[in-house]
Amino acid sequence: MRFPPVSLSLKDGRPCLIREATPEDGPALFALERAVVQAREGLVKLPDELPADAAAFTARREAAGLHRQDGTAFPLVATAPGGALLGEASFLRPSYRMLRHGGVLGIGVHPDAQGLGVGRALMHHLLAWLRAHRDTNGDRVHRVELQVRGDNPRAQALYRSFGFVLEGTRRDFLRTEEGAWVDDLLMGLLLHPERP
Ligand SMILES: CC(C)(COP(=O)(O)OP(=O)(O)OC[C@H]1O[C@@H](n2cnc3c(N)ncnc32)[C@H](O)[C@@H]1OP(=O)(O)O)[C@@H](O)C(=O)NCCC(=O)NCCS
Repeated sequence: MRFPPVSLSLKDGRPCLIREATPEDGPALFALERAVVQAREGLVKLPDELPADAAAFTARREAAGLHRQDGTAFPLVATAPGGALLGEASFLRPSYRMLRHGGVLGIGVHPDAQGLGVGRALMHHLLAWLRAHRDTNGDRVHRVELQVRGDNPRAQALYRSFGFVLEGTRRDFLRTEEGAWVDDLLMGLLLHPERP
């Protein structure tokens, strides 16, 4: 099932469109990722660890399966009037059949657009899309998981507000360039309490 675009207003009154991402968004998604990584908040990547250019970034997304149209990938972007990317969120399912009811969610909002409701809107619509999805054989997505840094209370609060719970902690998972040790939190959400 494809995602029908949704228009909404951000907290500052600016209009925003949430739509499915396409391979043509690659260069804009690369610019967005670079901006989020350069802000040095919430992610585990350093600026010099980004792909060399937009083509390499786009190829990596393709290789990860993020634009597959077979129920593997659920990529969304939030755009401003004119098309500039404000944020993105995606959900990716593994190919193994025993794990196929689950997948991993990732999200990033441009530093200039944070705190305006973009992240909440992306989460809301991505989870609604997952809840509504049916594979061709009728199977549903049941389990959503994500990883979040222990020093990222903003993202943790956002996830908890959608029902995600802490499932585990990887202690001292990352070490910042300044030498701080930071835990990684594994959070999960079951979409269908009765199980599909
Ligand atoms: C975390 C992130 C996705 C949230 O998106 P956002 O658009 O900034 O957040 P929203 O404006 O939708 O706010 C969502 C919630 O976050 C919290 N929040 C927002 N801004 C905040 C701030 N400045 N300080 C603390 N909490 C804040 C609030 O609980 C808010 O809930 P509300 O809607 O009830 O007010 C975004 O800030 C981001 O991309 N950060 C950098 C990268 C990152 O951390 N990615 C997640 C990796 S796991």
